[in-house]
Amino acid sequence: MSLAEMVQHNHGGDTGDDTPDHTHNYATVVGVRQGPPGGAESLVVGSTGTTAGANNRHHHPIPNAGNTTPFNVVSPTVFLNAEVKL
Ligand SMILES: [Fe+2]
Ligand SMILES: [Fe+2]
Repeated sequence: MSLAEMVQHNHGGDTGDDTPDHTHNYATVVGVRQGPPGGAESLVVGSTGTTAGANNRHHHPIPNAGNTTPFNVVSPTVFLNAEVKL
């Protein structure tokens, strides 16, 4: 069974503020822009920047694991057609 085949679940919690010290880009979403009829919506970004490592403490949620993708549970089997003369 692969990770995608596991039932989707969540372990809860988050990373905490201090583990590990890191930086990355971020964007603050302030709204959703309606798309054309039948088209996709888009996010409205208010500000962007780069976190400042240990001087800018923040934490991340832990995302869901698994994707509940169907999978086969039948063992591989070979069938043979044979005739026996009696
Ligand atoms: Fe981060
Ligand atoms: Fe899990």
